[in-house]
Amino acid sequence: MKRIITGIQPSGNITLGNYLGAIKNLLELQNQEDVELLVFIADLHAITVPQERQKLKQNIKNLAALYLACGLTPGKTHLFIQSEVPCHNQLGWIFECNSYIGELERMTQFKDKKAKQTAGVSAGLLTYPPLMAADILLYDVDYVPVGEDQKQHLELTRDLAMRFNNKYGETFKLPEPYITKSGARIMSLVDPSKKMSKSDPNPKAYIALLDDINIAKKKIKSAVTDSEGTIRFDIENKPGISNLMSIYSAMTNLSIKDIEEKYKDSNYATFKEDLANIVGDLLEKIQSKYKYYIESNDLDLILNSGRDIAYHLASRKLQKVYRKVGLGRN
Ligand code: TYM
Repeated sequence: MKRIITGIQPSGNITLGNYLGAIKNLLELQNQEDVELLVFIADLHAITVPQERQKLKQNIKNLAALYLACGLTPGKTHLFIQSEVPCHNQLGWIFECNSYIGELERMTQFKDKKAKQTAGVSAGLLTYPPLMAADILLYDVDYVPVGEDQKQHLELTRDLAMRFNNKYGETFKLPEPYITKSGARIMSLVDPSKKMSKSDPNPKAYIALLDDINIAKKKIKSAVTDSEGTIRFDIENKPGISNLMSIYSAMTNLSIKDIEEKYKDSNYATFKEDLANIVGDLLEKIQSKYKYYIESNDLDLILNSGRDIAYHLASRKLQKVYRKVGLGRN
């Protein structure tokens, strides 16, 4: 039995980048025999930057419904909210005490987010990676499906696990990142040198899974390309069309070579039209299921069951850790 975990922050519009980088791989893994999936809403991570209370609450619920709408099947996948399983913060603290400020300051995401933060940088933004390590290491997982941007955090997770194992004896399993080639790094539609991000101030930069379908299609049709006009993959010189080709490839499982062949006598307008329809079809499917889940009582029941299963697994691991570290009376 292979166990797998991943999480997404409920910080606004879940994008096609999140879908292709993480969710799509989950769906494929879910169909395999002997796989147990744990998927959570990383709400504790979201408050490392300022959040509005009501909006955060809504985003948590929306993300839960969206995960299910994308195709995660309750029963096969345990879906839960991070803050409802307090073992995450508890183990997070142990890892904070076993991390060095220097290594946390070197994290690319910390540096990027710090640079963007105008009204003070929270300590939580710095100690985010030890919490993420706890999210993963609590569950003895084999794989963590994520996009390329989380690779560094996973390397630190492995370092922290090894450090702990060396100091206190074998306790944590070392997880592997699960990053597929296509879809691992989807770029902005207006500036293909930047990653597609749900917090981008320009909504034309990303496709949100809950975007109006016609607007989403328009965003693809007006995505930045170049003046050469041939559908050829060349990240250096043609980052815009290369990004759209990566999206096409991740959406259809066609290789880049196949796409180049298919569109060798075509033009950008036709290619974009086709891609817009492919993405539009996906959004339509997701959105109709989303409407069902967001209004259904099933959502709470699914989250309760996910929380209980996660708590059961996590609390056993945490007890073991407390004992090894020498905390409390047991
Ligand atoms: P978050 O919420 O920023 O993103 C969720 C997932 O989407 C992937 N992703 C992308 N993939 C491809 N192209 C993009 N443009 C793109 N943007 C985002 C991310 O790599 C991620 O897999 N720290 C995590 C959440 C987290 C987590 C964890 C993940 C907390 N604890 C434990 C795995 C395991 C984050 O902020 O992801």
